[in-house]
Amino acid sequence: MWFAMEQAQNVYELSDRLIKAISGWPPYPSPEDDIEDLINLGADVNRLHGTFLPLHCACMVSDAECIELLLEKGARVNDRDGYGRAAIHYAAERDPLCLELLLAHGADINAGDGNRDTALHWASFKNNIPCVKLLLQHGAIVDVKDFNNDTPLGWAARKGNLGVIKLLLNFVGHITIEITVAMPSEDGLITMEEIKAAQSVLSQSPLKVHRTPLMKQVTPIYPQIDPSVDLYLKLENMQTTGSFKIRGVANQMSNLPKEVMSGNRKLGFGISVTQALTSELKNVVDSLVEKEGHIYFHSFDDLALIAGYGSCALEVLDECSDPDIVLVCCGGGGLVSGIAAGIKLSGKDACRVYAVEPEGSRTMYESFKEGEPVSMSVKSVAAGLSPPFAGTLTYKHCRKFVEEVLLVSDTELIETMRTFYNTGLVVEPSGCAAMTALLYGKVPDVKNKKVVVVVTGGNVTIEEMSQMLH
Ligand SMILES: Cc1ncc(COP(=O)(O)O)c(C=O)c1O
Repeated sequence: MWFAMEQAQNVYELSDRLIKAISGWPPYPSPEDDIEDLINLGADVNRLHGTFLPLHCACMVSDAECIELLLEKGARVNDRDGYGRAAIHYAAERDPLCLELLLAHGADINAGDGNRDTALHWASFKNNIPCVKLLLQHGAIVDVKDFNNDTPLGWAARKGNLGVIKLLLNFVGHITIEITVAMPSEDGLITMEEIKAAQSVLSQSPLKVHRTPLMKQVTPIYPQIDPSVDLYLKLENMQTTGSFKIRGVANQMSNLPKEVMSGNRKLGFGISVTQALTSELKNVVDSLVEKEGHIYFHSFDDLALIAGYGSCALEVLDECSDPDIVLVCCGGGGLVSGIAAGIKLSGKDACRVYAVEPEGSRTMYESFKEGEPVSMSVKSVAAGLSPPFAGTLTYKHCRKFVEEVLLVSDTELIETMRTFYNTGLVVEPSGCAAMTALLYGKVPDVKNKKVVVVVTGGNVTIEEMSQMLH
């Protein structure tokens, strides 16, 4: 009896060490155990440890050699982990070599995970073109739907993964997009009608744009903030795809040129890389559009995109009708342009909207100083806030609707990420800028004011976060 218990304890301990040795993730110490030795000593290659299985861990770290060894030692290729996922779901996100190994050992290519998402869903979502190709070659079903009725194409579209979209379309054959064409306003700025039209487009978009939560009266959670401030957090980190961007993209897609939709111009997707100096970028893009008929979706300097972002302001005003201050993270300036326009065009003239940029990528700040949009070299931990130039349209909108540009340091951004994390919110550095300005006293005249902070994105992995917060 004692012997049996001791033996079970031993297998448990060895299996635990096996998982740690394979994954080597934080918070585990670096693996010193030899994987093969552990298996030979009796570690169970099919033991679910916590949430994961050894084979899944090997897929997560893309270790093809380890996958081969585990399979050789009897790991079952289609076993599920605590999330209902099989090893193939992890491999499909990451590595074609690992994926191929699993397929060669009988992995079920069309198995759905706990949410009925297949390997093709995951590869499409993660923009892993080699894995998508491999799965299609091996007969993955393309129009399979998960619990939310999402197909792999839907996932790729949500993330704007054009290369994957093209591959999938070759198999599906067609796509239907509903179109409304926005008319630019006379002064080149978006109008309230366009913002409202965008809001209606988003509410019906197949890309599943959410109305995100507005956390109300949360000042007591943040003791660093003057208690007289009435703080609201607009949680765009909980938006589909983990950031506000889908609002703009969904509206851009619904504003494609008429001839595309009428079928007179072919809609194709693809990836080819053209390198250009920043100073020549615009000319190169213009020439691709003009000579080769490409459609260009600018990632911040675009009226349809800005109107889509305006929908975020309308949602805020629905629940907090008279904010005194709205703080928005700013990169190229698309988001703050849309939100500021939405606030001001709703008649909230007294509300101050501030754009917040990192000190190391202060393009809008410098543009305000220079009186025109500038280009400059940039460096910040907040990659999303670091395009090397301010947009022409965004500059124009910011001059009209934004009070001032505030600056925060990278160290402050990281500390804000920690503060958010400690209060239960996962926010990437770019999504922290607006809150940073408030936490570090950069916003003028906040006493007794109702302040809305837009938390713009949560796309950060545990590994990236632990590296930045160490
Ligand atoms: C999380 C996050 N916040 C804010 C921004 C800034 O948006 P914009 O370039 O429209 O100013 C970005 C841009 O990528 C982002 O990823």
